[in-house]
Amino acid sequence: MLEGKNVNLRVVEKEDLPLLVEWFNDLEFWGEHEFSGQSSRTEIEKEVEKSSFEMKDFIVEKKDGSKIGWVCHFYMLHPGGKLLEIGYALVPNERGKGYCTEATEIMVDYLFLLKETMRIQAHTGVRNIASQKVLEKAGFKKEGTMRKGCFIRGKWGDGYLYSILREEWKEPKILTKTTSSN
Ligand SMILES: CC(C)(COP(=O)(O)OP(=O)(O)OC[C@H]1O[C@@H](n2cnc3c(N)ncnc32)[C@H](O)[C@@H]1OP(=O)(O)O)[C@@H](O)C(=O)NCCC(=O)NCCS
Repeated sequence: MLEGKNVNLRVVEKEDLPLLVEWFNDLEFWGEHEFSGQSSRTEIEKEVEKSSFEMKDFIVEKKDGSKIGWVCHFYMLHPGGKLLEIGYALVPNERGKGYCTEATEIMVDYLFLLKETMRIQAHTGVRNIASQKVLEKAGFKKEGTMRKGCFIRGKWGDGYLYSILREEWKEPKILTKTTSSN
């Protein structure tokens, strides 16, 4: 368990699968700026089973244990797993309360504290202002525009690529104690 002030991140377990199936097949969960396909329970289960040092899915939980969203990290560019990407989404009625910013800060602390990560990146549609604010508040820098980098609801659109480097992170913002989990 990665403990924050208002939310915790907990590695996805088998009993979370029905909820993930519900969320991942719900257009509202992905919002208007994010790719949203349909996935079977078997497909989601296989993805979760692939969980490894470089790729892992977490449930975002409030302090009362209610499940409000999902955050993941996965390997993108480098076979040594030192360059990682993150993704996230929250249920609509829990947005705009700072929870995703905190979840992202926890994930960044975790990936720099417990792994030899050099760079964490994220990409977002140019119209996804909420996601851009989350990344900027969590210390990410906008690197540039990915031309026609996003396919959302039948249309190709531009995206922004963001990243944070280990030397820009400097020290943990949220995680003051760490677990031995990977
Ligand atoms: C992107 C997302 C995860 C942000 O989560 P969140 O918990 O609402 O984020 P936070 O509350 O931590 O911060 C959001 C910031 O964006 C702002 N914001 C929220 N919705 C907004 C909107 N529609 N337009 C402009 N700004 C918005 C908030 O006011 C806040 O800024 P502030 O701190 O300056 O007030 C959430 O909107 C979501 O789940 N969207 C659908 C999935 C998605 O797009 N995922 C991102 C993939 S790149």
